[in-house]
Amino acid sequence: MSNGMPEVKTPIFAANWKMNSGPTESRAFMRTFLARYARRPDRTVMFFPPALSLAAVRDSLKERADILVGVQNIHWEAKGAFTGENSAPIAKDAGATHALVGHSERRHVFGETDEQTAKKVAAAIGAGLFPMLCVGEKLDERERGETERVCVRQLRAGLSTLSNAQVATVIIAYEPVWAIGTGRTATPADASAVHVAIRAELRSIAGEHGGRLPILYGGSVNAQNVRALLDAEGVDGVLVGGASLDAEGWATIVRS
Ligand code: PGA
Repeated sequence: MSNGMPEVKTPIFAANWKMNSGPTESRAFMRTFLARYARRPDRTVMFFPPALSLAAVRDSLKERADILVGVQNIHWEAKGAFTGENSAPIAKDAGATHALVGHSERRHVFGETDEQTAKKVAAAIGAGLFPMLCVGEKLDERERGETERVCVRQLRAGLSTLSNAQVATVIIAYEPVWAIGTGRTATPADASAVHVAIRAELRSIAGEHGGRLPILYGGSVNAQNVRALLDAEGVDGVLVGGASLDAEGWATIVRS
């Protein structure tokens, strides 16, 4: 097993709830969602709830080991005087299997640097969590033709401390910043071009191991556009924010 995924490659549907849904709302969501999504071997479904809702989500999934749960952020230190933070070992102990690292909101709202994402990726792996490393260009960078350069820089930095075998335990999410929460989605062709470039870079970083990581697309994915994005070359799944907050809508996306 790598990336916490089954050996047979199935599309990954990851829900990033951001700062939405407390424990009560999370339980209600899961009741509706589980009634509409029966276990399917050809899908991997994963939730990234707020850390304080993780236990409620885990409890709701007691009978559904097919569905995975992660945290949206971790600190790189294992413990200590870092008020307000959660570490990778704490997340693991709370039942997370995965951790988002370097989401664009962490980078651009909270000022997280490439160096910090690298430390977080390493901390996740050290604690036995599978990191989902997010990369993506801002609008001005895309307009200057720097999309690939930015993604390659973020990839190289984020994976810089890992052995090739460790690189194979990571999941990559390509999320163009201009498409996140804006209703403006990359076309399947745009997404595909970047995914193919990311795959080539992963191979150059980690050789054959670089061929094994799933690369997800994220940015205004919804029930209307998800199929075309999943069908695009190089897209192994989706990371969904806004459209994952409605249980029925998310079930429709996951079944698509
Ligand atoms: P969105 O967010 O689907 O609301 O654009 C995606 C993300 O930030 O992961």
